[in-house]
Amino acid sequence: MQISVIGCGYLGAVHAASMAKLGHDVVGVDTDVTKVEALARGEAPFFEPGLPELLRDVVATGRLSFTSDVADVADAQVHFVCVGTPQRKDGYAADLSYVDSAVDALAPHLASGSLVVGKSTVPVGTARRLEQLVTAIQPESGLAWNPEFLREGFAVKDTLHPDRIVYGVGEYGVGGDSFRAEALLDEVYEAPLAEGAPKLVTDHATAELVKVAANSFLATKISFINAMAELCEATGADVAALADAIGMDKRIGRKFLNAGLGFGGGCLPKDIRAFMARAGELGADQALSFLAEVDSINMRRRVRMVDLAREVCGGTVVGRRIAVLGAAFKPESDDVRDSPALNVAAQLQLQGGDIVVTDPQANANAAKVWPTLKFADSADEAAEGADLVLLLTEWRAFRELDPVSFGEKVTRKRILDGRNVLDPQRWREAGWTYRALGRP
Ligand code: UDX
Repeated sequence: MQISVIGCGYLGAVHAASMAKLGHDVVGVDTDVTKVEALARGEAPFFEPGLPELLRDVVATGRLSFTSDVADVADAQVHFVCVGTPQRKDGYAADLSYVDSAVDALAPHLASGSLVVGKSTVPVGTARRLEQLVTAIQPESGLAWNPEFLREGFAVKDTLHPDRIVYGVGEYGVGGDSFRAEALLDEVYEAPLAEGAPKLVTDHATAELVKVAANSFLATKISFINAMAELCEATGADVAALADAIGMDKRIGRKFLNAGLGFGGGCLPKDIRAFMARAGELGADQALSFLAEVDSINMRRRVRMVDLAREVCGGTVVGRRIAVLGAAFKPESDDVRDSPALNVAAQLQLQGGDIVVTDPQANANAAKVWPTLKFADSADEAAEGADLVLLLTEWRAFRELDPVSFGEKVTRKRILDGRNVLDPQRWREAGWTYRALGRP
């Protein structure tokens, strides 16, 4: 099939490459000319395991190309809209300006019988509005919503082998027939469907809600265990053991019950806020008032980590050399959007700490956001002369540190495990003062 992908960020670049891998002819569109040129050379503009290999592979086959001119995709049958929906600067709502301008620019070029497919995370009601806009310009076209559930760090695998595929189709769809939208998407996803990925066909609003409901549930699960961590801190109990025990109940499950510094990134924080804002517009704000609590439990973990660092340093961090291991919002990513690790590093610097950050992939992005921090190329280098070490993003290189040899780098053997990934006994036996969130 002839496919276009509008917006080549984390979502779009991976989606475009994956669709070409499935055998389609794909053109990726992005207004950022530098990004388009890099992608056309087969270079990934951000760190994502497996993406550089996939890009080089499919660009070489000739099935994937890139352009900054949306007029170049007029022949495509299916157009995926993959642009960002960040949090607005003036509040919690999602900024839809990129989605709106992408669809505005695309609409005059739509061929008869083509389908626009939204993948961006949007407030419920957006698809219906965009469908009216698109069909007013090209009546023989339609719009479907096909939310994306990929995780950064596993984006290629999640796209090629999704655990479910959701289509939200309109009442009229292509040429007055929603069945046509479904048939076109079945053709796009023929390979994963044949592999057994479950398909759910819904109306537009349900498909839009599936995405924000899933992310809200995940965020709630993390904040639930972090709330339990606060209780554990108040009573001397151990949240890691608690998570293991409740997670053995199959109805609860152990996944997403890792207590620590909480969630960040480009999705969960802004999605729960945008969801609350939309519920307010719909007069249903009470239904989501718990998400405000989910958000504040999450933000409190960052404050708690800063307080703990100050406490361990004897009441002040002024002049203390602190090594921060991790800047990305999670391992296997160079993404520092709303990163808990970077937030804690910045707060400690503002309180007078002498902070050295190291991250296997995210140093450069972190330096753009917070240029006054110092950066090191490795944990060993960051730890040189440190009064305190904070482990804030659980990269494998940090999880596998040897407490004995690592202890030779620092001035004071004190470590705060912000992700509950180190073995407390092993570190204590090597002479370290070990503290963690939610553990005695
Ligand atoms: C998330 C959703 O998982 C994905 O389905 C959606 O498409 C986009 O948003 P992502 O932002 O890539 O994906 O990261 P995810 O792996 O979900 O982690 C989010 C944050 O939660 C990270 O900061 C992570 O460190 C934190 N987290 C995760 C915890 O604090 N504890 C956990 O148990 C799990």
